[in-house]
Amino acid sequence: ALQAVIFDLDGVLTDTAEFHFIAWQSIAQDLGVDFNLDDNEKLKGVDRHNSLQHILNKGNLTIDEQAFNQLLDRKNKHYLSLIAAITPQHLFEGVLACFTALKARGIKIGLASASKNATLVLNKLGIESLFDFIGDAASVKNSKPAPDIFLSVAAGLGVDAHNCMGIEDAAAGITAIKSAKMYAVGIGDKNTLNQADQIFTTFDLLNLHLSDCLTAFESS
Ligand code: G6P
Ligand code: MG
Repeated sequence: ALQAVIFDLDGVLTDTAEFHFIAWQSIAQDLGVDFNLDDNEKLKGVDRHNSLQHILNKGNLTIDEQAFNQLLDRKNKHYLSLIAAITPQHLFEGVLACFTALKARGIKIGLASASKNATLVLNKLGIESLFDFIGDAASVKNSKPAPDIFLSVAAGLGVDAHNCMGIEDAAAGITAIKSAKMYAVGIGDKNTLNQADQIFTTFDLLNLHLSDCLTAFESS
């Protein structure tokens, strides 16, 4: 039976995916690398280091470690300036209602984000205290699409993987959930997230259909 729901953050609970995109696009532009929405889709859920590597590969560029780290630092400073204005109003519609419904059923809530800024964003959204366990992106070995972060959160919650549901907006994230042998719910585009067990266009629709979604988990 379902004992825990493990959420991604960026693009699932709030629209920070947009801010990551703006910050990466500015780096890509300075490197002379074309960076479009398709590239951005591939970078969703991918950690900071691998995201920059993707952009460099696309431009057939190699840079030394110092320059690499400087770009990571610049991207993050830009991102931090973009998220400075986040308030609880930026929480997607349906998130608080969904969390309340899950808690009422005794289902635990976890966070599996690849972002080192996750706790800061949760704080700004005012929801940090609602989580039973928050995964630490910095301490897992392999980033998404590897299952590590989802498995570490399940362990932190004390729940077996087969009793967990994962919620993701990124293809790499859905792959991570399925590799962790969990039930996967996608938020976003049907074609991009076609590996998911269920897909909802928005978080609000997941919340409105939560009972059906939980029933489908039990019969899977
Ligand atoms: C999430 C986002 C990615 C971002 C990654 C690392 O997975 O979807 O776009 O690159 O976190 O975030 P960070 O805040 O550590 O740079
Ligand atoms: Mg995401």
